[in-house]
Amino acid sequence: MTHLIRNITSNTSFRSKKDETILQAALRNGHLYPYGCQSGACGACKTRLVHGTVKHLTRDPGVLSDDERAGGLCLMCQAVPQEDIEIDVKEIARAKEIEIKTLPTRVRKKNLLCEDVIQLYLSLPSTQKFEFLPGQYINILLKDGKERSFSIANTPAQAKKQGLELHIRIVPGGVYSSRVKEKVAVKDILRIQGPFGTYFLRKNEKQPIILVAGGTGYAPIKGLIEDAIENELNLPITLYWGARTKADLYLDEQAKHWAETIKGFSYIPVLSESTEGDNWTGRTGFVHEAINNDLPDASGYSVYASGPPVMVKALQDTFSNNGLDNEFFYSDAFDYAAANE
Ligand SMILES: Cc1cc2nc3c(=O)[nH]c(=O)nc-3n(C[C@H](O)[C@H](O)[C@H](O)COP(=O)(O)OP(=O)(O)OC[C@H]3O[C@@H](n4cnc5c(N)ncnc54)[C@H](O)[C@@H]3O)c2cc1C
Ligand code: FES
Repeated sequence: MTHLIRNITSNTSFRSKKDETILQAALRNGHLYPYGCQSGACGACKTRLVHGTVKHLTRDPGVLSDDERAGGLCLMCQAVPQEDIEIDVKEIARAKEIEIKTLPTRVRKKNLLCEDVIQLYLSLPSTQKFEFLPGQYINILLKDGKERSFSIANTPAQAKKQGLELHIRIVPGGVYSSRVKEKVAVKDILRIQGPFGTYFLRKNEKQPIILVAGGTGYAPIKGLIEDAIENELNLPITLYWGARTKADLYLDEQAKHWAETIKGFSYIPVLSESTEGDNWTGRTGFVHEAINNDLPDASGYSVYASGPPVMVKALQDTFSNNGLDNEFFYSDAFDYAAANE
């Protein structure tokens, strides 16, 4: 049974197929709505259900607060229409449609960036065009039907020459990341699908930009910065990078270089567990606390935050309390798969 989905903001309508979520139906019909993890964990796809009923899929939509549920909010990646519905979503404008593809790639290079972060470059087939926006992510498809998401850390122009760049943190006991460390080698074939997500630079917004990375959340942020450089964006950019120790700032020299050479670019690393050996004289604590201290008035900025879900949530609360219009908070929460996924 199909249902009609009407977006009252854009005055557009499309139909969902049986058991399809609002997000799946929207993407299939060429409408780009905000989304991230697609698993009900990041909250990027929250929207207001104006009319009708939906059923949320298996995962408990715990990212919705009681107030949000009471206010009629739903998660588009989890909500399956049960009748014709009306929603209220700001569609994302894009220059052109980008096709989601499934492709074989070959591992071109594998480097250790620090004790527990691996950099992979994946060569794309020369006969296939793979388009993406810097900041988006791909899924690596595993043989047992599972998949793992990784953000692309370079731009399409760079990827054409070097391959897609990924930064993979080795999670102790992690099914896939530990395999990357021990088993994935140069010349191996990895099947990928993508690109996904709506974490990319909104180049039409002409306000100062705050970028916040937590750990390997630096990967998509590196893509955003290199996109801004290639496009001569010319806006003030402040990069905060939150990490545990100095070694975890695995491309610190690169960020420092940008701060020294790009007009209007500042770099503020923040360590939460610096060791004596770090001889750290910089900022300490959690990155959201540093931002709370530096930016009591966050109105008038565009903010991009990526990394662990708990950091992204803390940042969203901090920025919201400090006057940022939620519309200008873009995030990519690196949620991990549920135990059986
Ligand atoms: C949109 C998106 C983009 C992502 N981009 C990146 C990226 O660029 N780089 C990157 O390193 N990762 C990224 N991730 C996370 C990545 O997809 C995997 O979840 C991660 O590599 C762990 O996979 P695994 O198979 O090794 O661990 P799993 O076997 O899935 O996890 C095993 C257990 O380890 C614990 N665990 C797993 N991950 C974490 C974590 N991050 N924090 C705390 N505990 C954890 C959990 O208890 C979990 O049950 C992204 C995730 C999403 C949703
Ligand atoms: S909660 Fe829906 S995309 Fe993350």
